[in-house]
Amino acid sequence: MPKPKVFVTRIIREKGLDLVKEFCEAEIWPEELPPDRATLLEKVRGVEGILCLLTDRIDAEVLDAAGLQLKVVSNHAVGFDNIAIGEATARGIPVGNTPGILTDATADFAFALLLAAARRLTEAERYLRAGRWVTWGPSTLLGMDLAGKTLGLIGFGRIGQAVAKRAIGFDLRVLYYDPSALPAWNATPVETLDELLRQSDFVSIHTPLTERTRRMVNAEFLAKMKPTAVLVNTARGGVLDQEALYEALKAQRIFAAALDVTDPEPLPLDSPLLTLENCLITPHIASASAYTRDMMAYLAAQNLLAGLKGERLPYCVNPEVYNRA
Ligand code: DGY
Repeated sequence: MPKPKVFVTRIIREKGLDLVKEFCEAEIWPEELPPDRATLLEKVRGVEGILCLLTDRIDAEVLDAAGLQLKVVSNHAVGFDNIAIGEATARGIPVGNTPGILTDATADFAFALLLAAARRLTEAERYLRAGRWVTWGPSTLLGMDLAGKTLGLIGFGRIGQAVAKRAIGFDLRVLYYDPSALPAWNATPVETLDELLRQSDFVSIHTPLTERTRRMVNAEFLAKMKPTAVLVNTARGGVLDQEALYEALKAQRIFAAALDVTDPEPLPLDSPLLTLENCLITPHIASASAYTRDMMAYLAAQNLLAGLKGERLPYCVNPEVYNRA
């Protein structure tokens, strides 16, 4: 039996790649940068499966370029805003993602960002390296305390809940805004986003990027935050209006922001945000622990192989494809 042809858009960790190589005739894109659009369209032609990353836009054009034999798209990420899910569903193609496995790594990182922004960690290191540490100063690099303060979570899915768990250990009171979330013992729901922003000293974003959440963090949102508040984003850059954030941070209308995600990615080096001391930015690495990335590769491979065999994907974001006649 010939092995099914697949295109893998980057070298993923061996734990997943070895499985793909064993069971498929796989073309694996070998470069550090993703394939450009024309290459992607060419490479998917005639494949039965695509294993892609969040850097690859999989839309109607790509699905059509692949052809009618395409059986599965497996995303090496929990977020799937890079994929036109409606288009895949309309073609009966299941789309897989990698939920759960990156919850702890992402929550750890969100908390690391929160602490770092509150205590001006990266700014302090730049200060030291610039030779500005001349003595111990009573008012040098003062930051924000956590104990007794309020953390507001926007989105209370797996990752939001894992951040709440960590926050309890730091004596934070936790609020969340997420109309679809179930009650939790360690966090209190609020009815409106305004209420969350009014009460929170730290605001951490854990919503997917959808048409509803795109640019949700705009000038109006930022104006409702406390002037001492810290904003953390480990979700998607598109949730935030970066110009509005720049204005708010520059005018110190909020204390600080820490972002692991930007729009675009990578963030251009001439972004005004990079001129600000009170803005900490990391290159989308919240899930970047060795174990987590091994398991993301493994789950992405499992989804791919299941789809190729015509089995239900272990993690499918459009299960309605299975209800079609
Ligand atoms: C995801 O999986 O959606 C993260 O943003 C990358 O790990």
